[in-house]
Amino acid sequence: MTTPRPTFKIGGDAEIRRLGFGAMRITGPGIWGAPADRAEAIRVLRRLPELEVNFIDTADSYGPNVSEELIREALHPYGAAMLVATKAGFARTGPNQWTPHGRPEYLIQQAYGSLQRLGIEQIGLWQLHRIDPVVPRDEQFGAVRHLIDSGMVRHAGLSEVSVADIKAASKYFKVATVQNRFNLGDRGSEDVLDYCTAHGIGFIPWFPLAAGELTRPGSLLDTIARNHHASVAQIALAWLLQRSPVILPIPGTSRVAHLEENVAAGAITLSDREFCELDRATSQRQQR
Ligand SMILES: NC(=O)c1ccc[n+]([C@@H]2O[C@H](COP(=O)([O-])OP(=O)(O)OC[C@H]3O[C@@H](n4cnc5c(N)ncnc54)[C@H](OP(=O)(O)O)[C@@H]3O)[C@@H](O)[C@H]2O)c1
Repeated sequence: MTTPRPTFKIGGDAEIRRLGFGAMRITGPGIWGAPADRAEAIRVLRRLPELEVNFIDTADSYGPNVSEELIREALHPYGAAMLVATKAGFARTGPNQWTPHGRPEYLIQQAYGSLQRLGIEQIGLWQLHRIDPVVPRDEQFGAVRHLIDSGMVRHAGLSEVSVADIKAASKYFKVATVQNRFNLGDRGSEDVLDYCTAHGIGFIPWFPLAAGELTRPGSLLDTIARNHHASVAQIALAWLLQRSPVILPIPGTSRVAHLEENVAAGAITLSDREFCELDRATSQRQQR
């Protein structure tokens, strides 16, 4: 177990606080259109710098465009410390509909659109949202290389990938981050996390608050949360922060109260025993 370090350098030079914010939930149902409470979404975003959160994860496809446009409206001009990371690689045809789209010309067009929507000259971190299975992956990695060479993108990452994918992409560009689904209840990407830890690659676990059955009253997670006078969501985040120094959780919310609760998880330190009990309970669950 490690004591959480508050910051991480993406690509070795872009220093951010490890507990970030996922901006997918500030859109409408099905991650489509405007959020139900637009004013609250703006308040959530403006609360981020006040809470010293300086890492935001978004994507062209969230809305689509809505999330990036709200971020600009709420926070532009961004302070020098703020890193707004975005992604592309999906076409959206309706609520809850996501179609991988990895043609190089599409990826480049979408990155250009993100620059305009966010109102910046360079994207600090751009991630390939999915490797499109019907487009040769080398062509997609070549497009990422082009984005870096043209100066549109400073650092680049991948999402929902295997260790083999990371190694293949590394022939084209330095993989700064990997964004895979990972949480207390879903440990399917342990091998990718271990690879990222060994190579100093930021690992961004999406859906970080999910813990499945562990959240039920009287469960181990519930008991540990009560002992810390914390919520189960906070303990799920504290566990992630202690799991590896390269983990950069991006809990998403549309409410200021939940944002404040999630950020406060950064101050929780689990004892060795608590960490190991949670680790054991969840990895046993995965093996069943
Ligand atoms: N790379 C990918 O393929 C991928 C896929 C999905 C997501 N992501 C990224 O990962 C981020 C996080 O993922 P996610 O939004 O799916 O999962 P999450 O952050 O684990 O969960 C978000 C959900 O939990 C609720 N919530 C947030 N804080 C809470 C709290 N303190 N107590 C109770 N409920 C709380 C939110 O509702 P309220 O709005 O009501 O708070 C929302 O419904 C996204 O914002 C996005 O940036 C990436």
